[in-house]
Amino acid sequence: MSSTKKVTDSIIYVGVNDHKIDLFEGQYDVPNGMAYNSYVILDDKIAVMDTVDINFTHEWLDNLAEALNGKSPDYLIVQHMEPDHSANIANFVNTYPNAKVVGNAKTFAMMAQFFGTNFEDKQVVVENGGTLDLGKHQLTFVFAPMVHWPEVMVTYDATDKVLFSADGFGKFGALDVDEDWACEARRYYFGIVGKYGAQVQKLLQAAATLDIQKICPLHGPILTENLGYYLDLYNTWSSYGIETDGIVIAYTSVYGNTKKAVEMLADKLKAKGCPKVVVNDLARCDMAEAVEDAFRYGKIVLATTTYNAGIFPWMREFIDHLTERNFSNKKVAFIENGTWAPMAHKVMKGMLEGCKNLVFAEPVVTIKSAMNDANKEQLEALADDLCQDYLARSPQTAKKNDMTALFRLGYGLYVVTCNDGKKDNGLIVNTVSQVSDNKIAVCINKRNYSCHVIEQSKELNVNCLSVDAPFDIFKRFGFQSGRTVDKFQGMETAKSDNGLPFLTQYINAVLSLKVENQVDLDSHIMFICSVTEARVTSDRATMTYTYYQENVKPKPQTEGKKGWVCKICGYIYEGEVLPEDFICPLCKHGAADFEKIQ
Ligand code: FEO
Repeated sequence: MSSTKKVTDSIIYVGVNDHKIDLFEGQYDVPNGMAYNSYVILDDKIAVMDTVDINFTHEWLDNLAEALNGKSPDYLIVQHMEPDHSANIANFVNTYPNAKVVGNAKTFAMMAQFFGTNFEDKQVVVENGGTLDLGKHQLTFVFAPMVHWPEVMVTYDATDKVLFSADGFGKFGALDVDEDWACEARRYYFGIVGKYGAQVQKLLQAAATLDIQKICPLHGPILTENLGYYLDLYNTWSSYGIETDGIVIAYTSVYGNTKKAVEMLADKLKAKGCPKVVVNDLARCDMAEAVEDAFRYGKIVLATTTYNAGIFPWMREFIDHLTERNFSNKKVAFIENGTWAPMAHKVMKGMLEGCKNLVFAEPVVTIKSAMNDANKEQLEALADDLCQDYLARSPQTAKKNDMTALFRLGYGLYVVTCNDGKKDNGLIVNTVSQVSDNKIAVCINKRNYSCHVIEQSKELNVNCLSVDAPFDIFKRFGFQSGRTVDKFQGMETAKSDNGLPFLTQYINAVLSLKVENQVDLDSHIMFICSVTEARVTSDRATMTYTYYQENVKPKPQTEGKKGWVCKICGYIYEGEVLPEDFICPLCKHGAADFEKIQ
C-alpha cells in the first residue's frame, strides 16, 4: 500500500513506518514504532534525500518508484550514515545506476566501511556551505557534526524554504500513530543527541539565518506550523535549560524503606507549592524516560541504597547516563540508605563531580535501614530547601521581611521591573546599591523608557539575576525598548504585593522598592528607595558583571574583522574611526563602551 505524501508541490515523502522493531538503536523502547523518513525533490534534476532501514528495502523502493512516476533520480543525497538511514544506499545504486551519490568526505569514508565501496565513480563530494542546483530548487548543505554523528549534514531548500534536518527535530514513534510530539521528541533528543548540546546550538544559530517554513526530519512528523515552538524547545534542551518548573525524584529501593522516604518527600514537596513532582522508580520505569525527566526539570532528588560498598546498579547506570550527556545547571538533593556503612551519598556526589553549575540541597538525608523521627525532620528541612522559590513566590507562604535578600546585592546584574499603567516593563541594570540599612539606590539611564515610568509611578522591583540566567534574558530586557515591545510576552511571572511582576526563574531574590527621593545625575537618575518587600527565591550565586562577561555573553566573532566591538553586547562596528556620538544599535550603549579590535 502506498505511503507517499506531498510535502510541497515538488517534494514528496517516501519514508516508511516500522512497527516490527523491538528496541531502536538496540536500546530504546519504542511502543509506537519508528518512522524512517525519506523524501524526493522533483525538479529538472531529481534528488532523493536519504534511504531507510534495511528491513524496508522494497517498501521504500516501491514508494520511490511511485513518486518518480517513471522518471529516474539524478542524485541520492546522504545526510547521515547511521544504518537506519543509509542501509539501502547499495540497493538504490543497483536500482538506479545512473544516479550520483552526494555526501561529504566523512560520509564517503563511512560508506566504504559499511559497504566495502564508496561508489567512487558516482560521488559528488560537497563542502560545508556547498550547493546543488536542481533547476528551480537550490540546495545548500550545512554540516552539523555530532548531530548525531560526525558526518551529519542538513540541507536547506531555498525555493520551498524547507530544512531537511537529518536526526534533528526527530522523535520516536511511527507516523501512523497519533501522539504528543514533545514527549517522544524529548526522550529521543536526550537519549540520542543529548550529549551534543553545543553542536545543536551551532546548528540552531545557522538555522536562525534561514527563512524556514517546513522542517523535514529523518524521524517523526514533518513540522509545518508554529515552528518557533519546536525551535524554542530545541534551544532549551541544547542549552541544558529548564523546560518545566518542578522536581523529579529518581530512586531505587530494595525492601521499600527508601521508597517510603521518597513518598513522604514527594507529599511534602507538593504541600509546599511545587507545581509538578515526578517520581521514577529506576528499577521499573523506562530508563530513557527517567533521563529525559532529569534534564527537563530544574531540581532532582537522587535516592538510593548503599550496595556492594557503592550504590544500587540502576542508580549507577542512571547517573552514568546523566554525566555522559553533560548534566548541568541543576539543584541536586540526596537521600541515602545503608544498614551498617551508608556511603551512597558520597558515591553519588563523586559521580557528579565533573558536572557544571550544580548546587546541592541541604540536608543530605541518611537513613539507617528504616526512617526514624530525625529522618522525618530532615525530609521536612530538605523539602523547605527544595521549595524555597515556590514558598517565596506565594503571598501566603513567602517570608516578606527576609532582609538577607539584601545580601544578594553585589556588583551584579538586575532586571528592574515597573508598570506604566498599561503594561509591565523591565530593563537590565548594573547600578543597584544598598546605601543605608534599608535604602537602595537604583540608577537608570534617562534614555530608557523605564526611567520615565519610574519617575511617575515611584515603584519598582529589583530582580537579582542568578548565574543560571541565559543570554536570552539579557536580550529580552536589555536590547529592546519597552516603549515599543512587550518584554514579558510569553514569559511566566509572579507578582509582589505592589502588583509589579518578578521573574519566576533565573533570580535569587526580589526586592520591592518605593522611591523616596531622586537625584539627577545628568545621564542617569538615581532613585533612592525604601524596601517594602524582600524575598529570597533561591540559593544560586548572584550574576555578577564579570560572570556575565566570561560565561554568558557569546564571544564576539571578531576574527578577521577590523573596527570596534561593543563590550556590552558584542556588536561589531566595521570602520577605522568610531564616531564619538555612535550608539550601539543592539544594546544602545555609547561609543565609550566600544573597544578597538586588535
Ligand atoms: Fe536516525 Fe542517527 O540516526
